Amino acid sequence: MTRILITGGLVITAAEELLADVLIEDQQIVALASTGSEVAAGWTADRVIDATGRYVIPGGVDAHTHMELPFGGTSASDTFETGTRAAAWGGTTTIVDFAVQPVGGSLRAGLDSWHAKAEGNCAIDYAFHTIVSDVTEEVLKELDLLTESGESTSFKLFMAYPGVFYSDDGKILRAMQRCAGNGGLIMMHAENGIAIDVLVEQALAAGHTDPRYHGEVRRELLEAEATHRAIKLAQVAGSPLYVVHVSAASALAELATARDQGLPVFGETCPQYLFLSTDDLARPGFEGAKYVCSTPLRPREHQAELWKGLRTDDLQVVSTDHCPFCFVGQKELGRGDFSKIPNGLPGVENRMDLLHQAVVEGRISRRRWIEIACAAPARMFGLYPRKGTIAPGADADVVVYDPGATQTISATTHHMNVDYSAYEGRRLTGRVELVLSRGNVLLEEGRWLGRAGHGGFLRRGTCQYLS
Ligand code: URP
Ligand code: ZN
Ligand code: ZN
Repeated sequence: MTRILITGGLVITAAEELLADVLIEDQQIVALASTGSEVAAGWTADRVIDATGRYVIPGGVDAHTHMELPFGGTSASDTFETGTRAAAWGGTTTIVDFAVQPVGGSLRAGLDSWHAKAEGNCAIDYAFHTIVSDVTEEVLKELDLLTESGESTSFKLFMAYPGVFYSDDGKILRAMQRCAGNGGLIMMHAENGIAIDVLVEQALAAGHTDPRYHGEVRRELLEAEATHRAIKLAQVAGSPLYVVHVSAASALAELATARDQGLPVFGETCPQYLFLSTDDLARPGFEGAKYVCSTPLRPREHQAELWKGLRTDDLQVVSTDHCPFCFVGQKELGRGDFSKIPNGLPGVENRMDLLHQAVVEGRISRRRWIEIACAAPARMFGLYPRKGTIAPGADADVVVYDPGATQTISATTHHMNVDYSAYEGRRLTGRVELVLSRGNVLLEEGRWLGRAGHGGFLRRGTCQYLS
C-alpha cells in the first residue's frame, strides 16, 4: 500500500474550505484532518506533498468533450491520448465524451467504436454519453439497456444539423418519454436547425461568406425558441432535461423560468461563451474561423447574464465542448463559405484556469468554482462522490493549485493537439502545480509523469439531482 499525505493546503470543495491535511492510500482519499491537529500529526506516509499556500481541490470533471469526433468533413484534432493529457495539464482528471450512433447503426455500435478509440490511450478516467442521431424502436430499447448497465446514462439529441444529427420533435418526444421511465438524462443541442439552414442559404446567396455570418444566421432567437420547445417537450414527456452549451441570454431566461416553475431542467455553459464574443468571430481576414462553434459566440452583453446564471444556479455546469480543429487545413475548409468551417473550439486544458480567473475577478466564489467545474458535473452525470470532491472514499483525483502564479495562455505552450489557442495571449492568475489521478502523480513542477492507458472507463449512475 502506498500512502501519500498532502499537508498544509486550503482544501476547497463545493461545500467548504478548510486548512486540512489529506491522506491518500493507493487510489483513494481515506481521511482529512485539520492541519496541525493531533490526528494529522500522527499520520505517516511514503510521500509528503507540502501544499502550504496552495489550494487542494478535486480534479476537474469536464462533462462535454469530443475527442477524435468525425465532424464537418474532418475529425477533431485531439485523440483520446493527446486530449486527456492536455486535460490533466489543465487540472481536469475526468472527461465525459460523446459516442456517436453511426448512420443506420445502433447506439451499441457507436459505443463500441468509442471504446476502441479510448481504451488504453487515456491519461485520465473517462466516461461516455451517447449521441442519438436516429430514434428508432431498437434505439429506444437501447436507452433502457445502457442506462440500466451504467455504460451511458445520458443521451444527446440535436434540434440542429439537419441531415447529420438532427431529430424532429416526434423523435425527441419519444426519446424523452423513454428516459422519463428509465432515469436517463436527455441532453439537448437547442438550436432550430431547420430555420438556420434557410438563413445560411440566404446569406451565402447574398455573398455573405465570412466567418462572422456563422454568428448572424444562428440567431439568438432560434436558440431561445429551441430551448423553449425542448423544455415543453420534456414537460409533456415528464422527463428531466439538460441543455448543453447555452450561449444566449434569452435561452438562459427560458431555463430560469422553467426552474422557477420547479421543472427538472438543467443548463450548461462553456468558457468560450463566458470569455469570448462575436467580436472574435468578426476578427479580420479569416481569423474569425477559429471562433466558429455552435451554439455560436454571442455579443459581449450576454456574458454578464451567463455569469449571473452561474451565480444563481440557473446554470449548474461549465464544460468545454472541447472539439478542436486546426486552423491550417481544417478551419480553412470553410474559406469562401462559412457554413463549411468545422464547428468547434479547443479548451479542455483551459477551463479550470479560466474559471479560477473568474474567482480572482470576483465573479464567482472559490466554492462555486469547484461546484460548477467538479462537483455539479459529477452529480449531474452519476459520478459523485467518487469524482468531484475531496472526501474519504473518493478517488484520489486531487489538484494542488497555486492561486498566485501567473501564466499567459498560448498555442506555443499548450498541450492540446491544435495549432491555435482561442485565448492566445490572455494573462491569468492561478496555475496547476501537481495533479493526482487515483493516487498517481500525473504531473509535477512542469514535468509530465502520466501515461496513456492509466485512465479507465467509468460506469455511471443516473443524474443525482433527481433522487
Ligand atoms: O461547435 C460545436 N459545439 N461542435 C461540437 C458539436 C456540438 O454540437 O457539440
Ligand atoms: Zn451541440
Ligand atoms: Zn459538443
